[in-house]
Amino acid sequence: MSFGAAHLLGIETLSPEDIVTLLDLADTHAESNRAGHPPRDVLAGLTQINMFFENSTRTQASFELAGKRLGADVMNMAMARSSVAKGETLIDTALTLNAMRPDLLVVRHHASGAVDLLAQKVQDCAVLNAGDGRHEHPTQALLDALTIRRARGRLHRLSIAICGDIAHSRVARSNLLLLGKMGNRLRLIGPPTLLPPGIADMGCEVFHDMNEGLAGVDVVMMLRLQKERMDGGFIPSEREYFHLYGLDAAKLAHAKPDAIVMHPGPMNRGVEIDGTIADDINRSVIQTQVEMGVAVRMAAMELLAANLRARRVEGDSRVGRAATEVRDA
Ligand code: NCD
Repeated sequence: MSFGAAHLLGIETLSPEDIVTLLDLADTHAESNRAGHPPRDVLAGLTQINMFFENSTRTQASFELAGKRLGADVMNMAMARSSVAKGETLIDTALTLNAMRPDLLVVRHHASGAVDLLAQKVQDCAVLNAGDGRHEHPTQALLDALTIRRARGRLHRLSIAICGDIAHSRVARSNLLLLGKMGNRLRLIGPPTLLPPGIADMGCEVFHDMNEGLAGVDVVMMLRLQKERMDGGFIPSEREYFHLYGLDAAKLAHAKPDAIVMHPGPMNRGVEIDGTIADDINRSVIQTQVEMGVAVRMAAMELLAANLRARRVEGDSRVGRAATEVRDA
């Protein structure tokens, strides 16, 4: 197994081998979840704390379910109502956590880089990034990758369109990194106001017209309009946006006949996607994405917990060696 990291903070630092290791293990968890017998002893004796500084329903529920299925003791800290709201800094939060001694820490934060900072400050604990600002959302990209691999039978040399609000999206960023590393052809489609400057240099094709951008693609990945991150008029109106960039049957007809449709949720029906497309079980894999989310998070926590245990054994033997040296001196 090649995955040797202490934390899962982003896709940026993962190799293609790491990604395959994670996805292969997640595949086995997807099967055991379907069969109703996940291995409940994998995280037994470990404490998982979920700290969501930003609202989340599916990601938090998914991490909670993943931890419970593998036998961890899972605790959700309600950060909106917590001492953070009373002015505590991230560093104080880290010190509090160190005193509580969690083994796995799942963090979502509205500021890009906040999860990396916390990972540097907590001791003897594996940190998983559940989304930080506009930066990364690694488990989302991994669950998207697993969904694509299961639906299309491979994760390389596919033509994949990521559509909509790319500028504000950590989902787009993590997906671009992952799908690029695995050797796919990437297309970004959106209005110029919602595409970050210089994005074409990342090795993807950029389109402002949906019909052109979707021509012949294998995968159509839609993004939510991140209204909470917009500080001005990025689109003329939601109606206009749906007309130009919302996925409906007419625009989808330009993709391959068997192209799959994805959305990370939560969806704005009638804004970025037509409800009938989202619900079409022959095209939409949105429910599979949710299912694979649990499996991917199980795999990520299992691998990080194994690395954590190995580091602790190594630490114990170092302490043991030091004690022997002191005794023998
Ligand atoms: C995404 C997120 O929060 O980054 N959602 C999710 O994780 N299910 C995407 C979004 O908010 O649009």
